Amino acid sequence: MGIKYFQDKTIWITGASSGIGEGFARALSEAGAYVILSSRREKVLQEIQSQLAFPNRSKVVTIDMEDNNSIDAACEMINNEFQIDMVILNAGISQRSRILDTEFQTEQRIMQTNFIGAARLTKLILPKMVEKQKGHFVVLSSVTGKIGVPTRSMYSASKHALHGYFDSLRAELTDSGIFVTILCPGYVYTNISKNAVLGDGAPQNSIDENSKNGMLVDTFVEKALKGIAKKKQEMLIGGKETMGVVIKRFFPSLLNNIIKKVNA
Ligand SMILES: NC(=O)c1ccc[n+]([C@@H]2O[C@H](COP(=O)([O-])OP(=O)(O)OC[C@H]3O[C@@H](n4cnc5c(N)ncnc54)[C@H](OP(=O)(O)O)[C@@H]3O)[C@@H](O)[C@H]2O)c1
Repeated sequence: MGIKYFQDKTIWITGASSGIGEGFARALSEAGAYVILSSRREKVLQEIQSQLAFPNRSKVVTIDMEDNNSIDAACEMINNEFQIDMVILNAGISQRSRILDTEFQTEQRIMQTNFIGAARLTKLILPKMVEKQKGHFVVLSSVTGKIGVPTRSMYSASKHALHGYFDSLRAELTDSGIFVTILCPGYVYTNISKNAVLGDGAPQNSIDENSKNGMLVDTFVEKALKGIAKKKQEMLIGGKETMGVVIKRFFPSLLNNIIKKVNA
């Protein structure tokens, strides 16, 4: 199977203007997929589109996952023009603030972008997949979708929510020809920490050391594509930080002791 799985598939990627989403767009174009690139920044998407292996087999569709009207409009356009084989729900924002320092509006924004928006988009494009009895949802969670750590409360909650929703969807779609793969990255070197919001919603504007020492995007994407092609249900991809998930499962008290000392 491998990379051939993606050939001639129509794949919609949210958050394609940076980091992991951009990496998926480049790799999937090279693998022969028709890629639809979405995010808020049209010019950045167009620049990436022009550098794809096959720019004429791609399209830019702007979307703001914070805005339900924008999600509805993008889905309507896509449903009218395409039969989507795979959607990579990748758009997301992280957080760098303790609970008591985080404004409610900031928390709502994180939850809307990372979870509610993804669930809304899914519901709007699912009917055509069900009709054709084929499709694949790839969902970007995180190690923090399995473990809550200081200063990531709402980010972690939004990623945990993705597991609940997409595990349920997978169960509902048993034997339907539609698959769900949830990816849980550890540290990957992107702008995620730079764009992460502080309590008042302003971006942190600096890249964390953990991120700088993280996995390269191309390495992450290569590993993820291998698992997606095998229709894996869930993948944990990263360095030693992913051990936390295993420790939580077998030694939860030990993990609590480790996590409370994390000065994130
Ligand atoms: N990098 C890591 O270490 C790491 C670890 C665990 C999980 N993840 C997850 O991986 C995914 C990709 O993150 P990344 O590391 O590639 O971060 P990134 O470089 O900051 O990219 C984030 C992407 O999300 C898009 N986005 C943010 N808000 C949006 C909105 N309201 N509407 C539409 N698009 C929006 C951004 O595009 P625009 O600004 O153009 O809208 C950008 O393309 C995220 O879901 C993140 O939580 C990353």
